[in-house]
Amino acid sequence: MSKYDDLFDDTAPTESVFADKGALDPLADPAEIVAREAQERELATILNGVHEGYLPPTVSIYGPPGTGKTLTARRVTQEFAARHDQVAVEYVNLKECRTIFSAANEICVALTGEKKKAYVGLDGVFEAIWEALEAYPAWTVVILDEIDQLQHDTNYDPNDFFYRLLRGEGKLKREINLSLWLLSNQLMEVDLRLDSRVESAMSDEAVFFPPYEKTALQAVLEPRLKQAFREGALPEAVRTYGIANAAMRWGDARKALTLFRQAGETANEQALETVTGECIDVNLEHVEKAMIVEQLSRLPLQHILVLRAITSWIEDATGEISQPVTTAQIKQGYDQFEIPSAARIGDRAIRDVLTDLETMGLIETWIESKGREGRVKQIQTTFDPTWVAEANAARNVHNTPDAE
Ligand SMILES: Nc1ncnc2c1ncn2[C@@H]1O[C@H](COP(=O)(O)OP(=O)(O)OP(=O)(O)O)[C@@H](O)[C@H]1O
Ligand SMILES: [Mg+2]
Repeated sequence: MSKYDDLFDDTAPTESVFADKGALDPLADPAEIVAREAQERELATILNGVHEGYLPPTVSIYGPPGTGKTLTARRVTQEFAARHDQVAVEYVNLKECRTIFSAANEICVALTGEKKKAYVGLDGVFEAIWEALEAYPAWTVVILDEIDQLQHDTNYDPNDFFYRLLRGEGKLKREINLSLWLLSNQLMEVDLRLDSRVESAMSDEAVFFPPYEKTALQAVLEPRLKQAFREGALPEAVRTYGIANAAMRWGDARKALTLFRQAGETANEQALETVTGECIDVNLEHVEKAMIVEQLSRLPLQHILVLRAITSWIEDATGEISQPVTTAQIKQGYDQFEIPSAARIGDRAIRDVLTDLETMGLIETWIESKGREGRVKQIQTTFDPTWVAEANAARNVHNTPDAE
């Protein structure tokens, strides 16, 4: 026997609780979409508009993370396009787009397979988009995923982007029928501060994906859990317990899948024959933390600075982070950071960032009466404040200077 026989024997899972762990990968598309009948029906009705000669210029598809927006929008449009020659669908994810120009270029790539060089400008990219669409079927649906990642940059603001997409001359001239499906966690207008000229060109078609409640989450997870775990390795009581907790805390299918994968891994590490309630419990906190740290590490710089300012007050007696804090304390904390003065933002911008953070569910605020001081706004994170420093460290490792 070679040393590798020993090595591989030694590291092979002997009594794994898993039969097919891949079934728990949130990136793997499930065979069937379940528990989203109402949304599938709404989307199908919208698509059937082509038979009456109309698709809305925009459709907002919104809801919290892991509620099946991307999966459902892609699947329903693809299935429809496969049955209708006059309909085409393209999918574009804007997650990595740092500028409006690169967002337009992503669309260009989806339609033409080619990226445009910076010197052609936004107009040049749009000209290529319209040229490509002219050769497309009569109706085109373009799914723009993670549209909330779109931000103002030094050259353009999101209004420029949408105005061109909706009312661009090249589009009107060629009479292109384009339906933009905008996927995001919040309703668009709230997030991007669109102006009235853009808003009036958008339709108010909106489809909401609520968090999954227990029975829905069960329907989503059951086929995958069955495939993922060895017969008997995930007792029914533990499965129900995990699903109930995931539904109550998050209503998020992605987090729920991760929870069960990690619970299974814990069972294996402890050489247990079956997954137990304790395996679920230790991982509830882990999943929560991993997701928040990941969300924090993707925030824009000022958001993370403001969060650091919020969590910069330390309790003398315990050495622990002291919360809640006031706006004045945040400002004071912010002023301590060593950042170039050009990069500093003022009180108003700090307040805007706080509003953003609250919308994202990362902080909560309330007003308290403090006697002579009057009414004072109190602010605190909705999660363990020590995670901010961790996310900041992760961010500094991953972030390379923006090349665009
Ligand atoms: N109704 C469903 N049926 C089967 N699987 C589902 C369903 N909903 C979600 N999932 C699973 O959860 C994963 C996450 O769903 P999806 O990516 O569609 O969420 P999302 O709403 O787009 O989230 P985000 O806002 O974070 O982009 C999917 O890849 C799929 O594996
Ligand atoms: Mg998505």
